[in-house]
Order: sequence, then structure tokens, then C-alpha cells
Amino acid sequence: MNDKKKSSVKYPTIEEIPKEFKIEKPIFQDEYLCGGIIKKWTGPRQEVYSPVCINENGKIKRFHLGSYPQLTAKESLEALKSSEEAWNHGRGEWPTMTVEERIKAVSLFVQKMKEKREEIVRILMWEIGKTLKDSRKEFDRTIIYIQDTIDALKNLDRISSRFDISEGVIGQIRRAPLGIVLCMGPFNYPLNETFTTLIPALIMGNVVIFKPPKLGVLLHRPLLEIYRDCFPPGVVNTVYGDGATVIGPLMESGKINVLAFIGSCKVSNILKKQHPYPNRLRSVLGLGAKNPAIILPDADIELAVKEGVLGALSYNGQRCTALKVFFVHKSIRDKFITMFSEAVSSLKIGMPWEEGVDITPLAEDNKCRYMTEYIKDAEEKGARVVNESGGEYFETEFNPAVLFPVKPGMRIYEEEQFGPIIPILEYSDISEPIDYIVSSEFGQQVSIFGKDPEQIAKLIDMLANQICRININSQCQRGPDTFPFTGRKDSAEGTLSVSDALRVFTIRTLVGAKEHDLNKEIINDIVKNHKSKFLSTDFIF
Ligand code: G3H
Repeated sequence: MNDKKKSSVKYPTIEEIPKEFKIEKPIFQDEYLCGGIIKKWTGPRQEVYSPVCINENGKIKRFHLGSYPQLTAKESLEALKSSEEAWNHGRGEWPTMTVEERIKAVSLFVQKMKEKREEIVRILMWEIGKTLKDSRKEFDRTIIYIQDTIDALKNLDRISSRFDISEGVIGQIRRAPLGIVLCMGPFNYPLNETFTTLIPALIMGNVVIFKPPKLGVLLHRPLLEIYRDCFPPGVVNTVYGDGATVIGPLMESGKINVLAFIGSCKVSNILKKQHPYPNRLRSVLGLGAKNPAIILPDADIELAVKEGVLGALSYNGQRCTALKVFFVHKSIRDKFITMFSEAVSSLKIGMPWEEGVDITPLAEDNKCRYMTEYIKDAEEKGARVVNESGGEYFETEFNPAVLFPVKPGMRIYEEEQFGPIIPILEYSDISEPIDYIVSSEFGQQVSIFGKDPEQIAKLIDMLANQICRININSQCQRGPDTFPFTGRKDSAEGTLSVSDALRVFTIRTLVGAKEHDLNKEIINDIVKNHKSKFLSTDFIF
């Protein structure tokens, strides 16, 4: 492979960055939230360098964004103790609050969070290199998610506010919280995907220990005071630092009731094994994927290219739902590859705040090197980069590479690249992509591009028990958030959507009474005189 170190970006000096996008001074976070107190940390801190490089006296360097605390097992166990006190065996202030009161607290939280939009969006953009447009989208989508969660809970509560009578037994069935939830989100959606578990867990009455991903910590700093002010002490505790140091002791304590984790299957398996009572642990996991695109012979190629590029390269391909391998029928192979490569080469690479930018710096350390190793391995086994400038890189900037022909035996064939490489395979029989999906260790989504309803229907039926979402002439994606988001095999555990999330963080719990006069009198008295928060017919409007 030729040396592909080459930049196509003009790196600005700090003075050249427009004021509205600039981070004026580094963010040295030295606080964490524990027991309702924002505590000062004087121990070691993790330095944070943005993936975005700037020109410092002619040298291109990653911008020093700040630092955050590297807590130890001691602080982590303090967070656990504080969570236990807030939960208090389910009798704490928060878990016993009425649904209406919890909704009020979360509504206040979202209202205050909205005021931090600009600050959070700016840090998010710098911390993980997401385009300004997508950083704003992530923030706004999160706000809508929280508001939709409130509405979904109102609905759920209305349904639960009635009595059922069956076989002579009166019952009121509600969903009760599970206890202490450990929430860990991913770096690619550090705000949104954290909140798609944290908020439903909280609003249902659980208490939360929250550890942000390694990349994507500082953007959460503006929220610490809001957690503190909107929720009772200990209901939200934050921990930062090395996962093995701060998370290991939490899991080993056996006191975590729910693990809400978005990340790799390898890490989730380690965490689950650390828990001494696996039967007491519920896991809600969003894991890896290698979603294929299948381009049928009659596909609308222009549409397949448009959706394919979006699907493969939104946020530089760093999405679990990204299209990570393309199966193209041999009859349209040349046309598809030519059009696809042209579309990829026309993408704008640049700084995240630039108007119309598509491809931005890669967030993870050494990511360009990993991407290059995939290309090298594939090239050694017979593939080549077919798009202009594909695979060229400089510091954190990587030119998306379209690889063809990809074959079994190449690493990129089955490994999840989580970055801007698009492997293309040619197939002659539809059994080839189907077999790929069947034997894959992942089972999240697929995109099928074609026009023939008969063939598409057959594929739907063949694939519906293999994966969890079949997209027709559309890229793979999580949204809309009211749709279930899940996967089979190593792709997920549990289902997340606005309404499903309320269910996964709770357990159905009921009061039952044989239908006789004494019980009817007792229930009537409790309900009419509002003697219980659980056994109640109060209706939230
Ligand atoms: O990383 C995986 C995300 O859940 C993808 O969400 O399809 O909305 O980008 P998205």
C-alpha cells in the first residue's frame, strides 16, 4: 500500500475559528455529583484532546479541550452508598413519589436543560467531532425524547389507574421501579443514547449511577447542577474514570439492579460476569452491528447510492446502525460502484462547524491507523480502494474509502469497522447475502434496495427472524424513537423505544384481593381517601 498520509483540509489557527464556535478556554472539570452534592476532586484527571486539530504556529495539533476527574473505587462505592440511601429498599423519597410528582421533576429538568443547549452542543461538537448540524440534532432529539417519555408515562399511568376483575379477584397492576440502575452511554451519541436509558429509568422511580463514555464526558458538566436541583439527593450520582476501576466494584457489589449499557458486546459480557447474582441483574444493552445493504438487480441505483452514502457515512460511519457492508448484484456492479465512489468523493471533509461539511475528524485514538489496517489487510487479499483519495489520512482526518472486491477471509468482511470504510461485495445469487446474515454474529438491521414487491416480500419473510428491522429502499437507522430499537444475537438485549424503555426499567407489580365485601370496603376506603400512592385511581391529565 502506498503511503496515504495526505490532508485535504485547511486547519485554522485558534484566531481563525469564528467566535460562535470557539471554546474560549479549556474546561477543567474537577467536580462530580454524589449524594446531592457537587464534590471537588483533587486527584488525578484525564486530559481531553479534541479530535479536531488546529494550527498552532504551523504545527497541526489536536485541540486541548480540558480534563475530567479520574475517580477511584472509593468514590465509586460512595456513589453506590448514596444510591442505596436514595433507593432505601424502594422506600426512598424518589421511588415512592407519585408519578405526577416525578413527571414534574423531569419536566423541570428538561426545561433547565434546554437553557444549556448552546453550551452542550458546542462541547459535544468539539469533544467527539460531530458536525454542528448533527450535534444540534442530537440535542434537540434528546429533548423531544424526554418530552415524549413524559407523555408515554402519562398514558401508561392512565391505563394502570383502573382495576381489573378476573376470576373473582380484584387487581390493580402497575409498573414499579427495579432499584439502582447503572447507565453507560456510547461516545457516538454521548448525550442522546445516555438519556434514552437514564431518563426512562429515572422517571419510573429508579435511582441512577451514571458514567459517561470515555469520549464525551465534558458535555455533561453543565447538567450537574440541574440534576442536583431537580432530584432528591442520591437519585443521580456521577462517576468518571477508568471503567475497570470505577465500574468493576459497582458490579461486584451485587447491588446494581439494572445495567443499561450501550457499547461493545465484549465489555457488556465482562460487566455482566462481574455481578455475583446474575438472576438479580436485568440488562438493557445496545451493542454492535454489521448491517448489510443488499442492492438487488432492479434497484433504483440513484436512490440506493443516496441512502447508501448516508447510511454508511453519517457521522463518519461511527453509528451502530451504519451500513457496514454492501452486497451488490453483479449485473449492476459497475454502475453502482462508479456512482457510489463519485458520491463519496464529493463529500466535504472539514471542521465540524463548517457549512455543508459531511466528514469530520475521527474521535477515537489511533482510529485512522485502525482504518488503514483494514484497508491494508483487504488489499493484501485482493481488494482495492476504488474511490479517488479514499483511505488518505492525516492526524484524525480520514478520507472515506470504498473497497472492492471484498471477500470472506478479509477482516473488513465480518468485523465491525465503526468508521469510514465501505466494503463492497459482488453477488450473483441472493443466497449469498442471506447466508452472510444467517452466519453473522450480529442481528440488528438490513437495508434492501429493489423494486419488485414479490422479491422484497420473500426477503422480508426470510429475514424477519434473523434481524430486528428490515429497511426498504432506506438506510438503517434507530429512529423514529417511538419505533422499537433492538437486535438479536450480539447486537442487543432488551428493546428501547420511548414506550418500551418505560417497561424495561420496571417490573409489573399488583395488588390483588378476592372480591368480597370486606376487601371491597378496604379498597374503596384506600382509593377514595387517597391513602396509597400505588393503589390509586388518580388520573393524570
Ligand atoms: O449508534 C447507534 C445509534 O443508535 C444510531 O442511531 O440510527 O439514529 O443514528 P441513528
